[in-house]
Amino acid sequence: MTEDVLDPLSVAREQAYAMPLDQIDVSRGDRFQADTVWPFFERLRREDPVHYTAQSAFGPYWSITRYHDIMAVETNHAVFSSASGISIFDLSEDFPLPMFIAMDPPKHDAQRKVISPAVSPQNLAKLEPIIRARAGRILDELPLGEPFDWVDRVSVELTTQMLATLFDFPYEERRKLKWWSELTTNDMSATMTIEAVRAELMACAAYFQRLWDERKDGPAGADLISMLARGESTRDMPPMEFLGNILLLIVGGNDTTRNAISGGLLALNQHPEAYARLRADPSLIASMIAEIIRWQTPIAHMRRTALADVELGGKIIRKGDKVVLWYASGNRDETVIDDPHAFVIDRPRPRQHLSFGFGIHRCVGNRLAEMQLRIVWEEILKRFPRIEVIGKPVRLKSCLLRAIDSLTVVIPERHPPGIS
Ligand code: HEM
Repeated sequence: MTEDVLDPLSVAREQAYAMPLDQIDVSRGDRFQADTVWPFFERLRREDPVHYTAQSAFGPYWSITRYHDIMAVETNHAVFSSASGISIFDLSEDFPLPMFIAMDPPKHDAQRKVISPAVSPQNLAKLEPIIRARAGRILDELPLGEPFDWVDRVSVELTTQMLATLFDFPYEERRKLKWWSELTTNDMSATMTIEAVRAELMACAAYFQRLWDERKDGPAGADLISMLARGESTRDMPPMEFLGNILLLIVGGNDTTRNAISGGLLALNQHPEAYARLRADPSLIASMIAEIIRWQTPIAHMRRTALADVELGGKIIRKGDKVVLWYASGNRDETVIDDPHAFVIDRPRPRQHLSFGFGIHRCVGNRLAEMQLRIVWEEILKRFPRIEVIGKPVRLKSCLLRAIDSLTVVIPERHPPGIS
C-alpha cells in the first residue's frame, strides 16, 4: 500500500476507536469515497457486531457486520423480508418500481425462475465466444504508451457489451444501458430534477416495450427480453413492474461487473507480487477472479426489514426495523477469512465470500460475471505484459456501490507477435 493511501486510513483508525460506539454510522458515503470505512467495520465486528445506529441520513438502522450473522439473516427470509426495499435508501412511494430482487416468495421465486435459463451453463457456453471476440476488440483498440481512463475505455465498454449481448439489445445503442443504470443507482440531484430522471426512465420503459412487442410472438430467443415476454409469471407484468425488472437486470449486470473489472486491475497494481505470479502462471486466473470479487465487493450492502421481533447476537431487532447486511465487512471478517485485507490470488477456498449474497436472492448472474472476468483477464494476459495504474482511483460517494469512477492507466507495450 502506498503512503498516501495509508495515511487517511490511520487517521480513520484513530477516529473509529476513539468515538463512542453508539455514534458509529457506517452508511456515510464519504468514508466509502475515501476508502476509509474499514476500521469502523473492524471495530463493529469486534465490539458490536449487531449494531444499532439511531440517527443517519437514512434514518435508524441495524448493521450486521460479521460473516456468519449476515448468512443467518440471508437464510431467514421468513423473518427478514426484501419487500420493503433492498438497500438502506427508502423506496420511492410515488414512483414505485417493483422488481423480483425486492420481493419475497412465492412471487420472487416464480419470476427468478423465468430469467434463470439466460444464465444457465449451456447459454453461457453460447455467449462465451461472442463476449471473447468483443473483449478482444476493445483491448486491441487501446493506446500504448499514453494515459487513458481504464473505467471508460474498458470496464464500461465490456460490461455494456455483455449486457447488450444478454438482452440482444441494439449494439450501437448500448451506452443507453449505462445511462439508465446510472439514473437508477446514482444521486443525480446535482444535475437533474427528479421529474427529468423519471422521464428518462419512462423512455427506457418505452424502448424495452418496443423490443418486447417485437419478440413476444416471434421464435423463442435465449435473450432476457424474450424470456420475460414469454415467461408465465412475467408476461403480464404491469408497466412499472416491467420497468423495475428491466432495471434490475441492467443494474445487476452493469455496475457490479464493471467495478470488479476496475477493482481487479487496481488490486494487482497495489499487490505487485500477485501481479508477477499471475503473469508467471495464468492458470491462477480462476481463483484470482473469485478473490477480485471478494476484495472489491462491488455491492457493499443489501438490506432486509424485520417482519417480527427477533433476537440476533444478543440484541432484539424490532418488527419494521431496517437491517443492513454489510457484505464489505463480512468479506473482511478475520475469523472466517485469513488475512482478509490482503489480495491473495490462490486462496484455498476462493469462492468463500459474500459478494454475491446468499440464500434465495443469491446473485443469479454470478457465473456470468465470473465468466466475463475470466475472459477479460485471459485476453489481457495474451496481449499486455503489464498495465500500470498511474493515478489515484476516483471512487463514488456511495455506501451501496463500491464503485470506481475513473482509473488512469498506461499500457507500456504489447507482447511481441507469437509471445503471450
Ligand atoms: C461481480 C458481479 C456481480 C456482483 C458482485 C453481484 C452481486 C449481487 C448481489 C449482492 C445480489 C443480492 C444477493 C442477496 O440479496 O442475497 C445480486 C442479485 C442479483 N443479481 Fe447480481 N451481481 C453481479 C453480477 C450480476 C450479473 C452479471 C447479472 C446479470 C444479469 C446479475 C443479476 C442479478 C439479479 C437479477 C439479482 C436478483 C436475484 C434475486 O433476487 O433472486 N448480477 N447480485
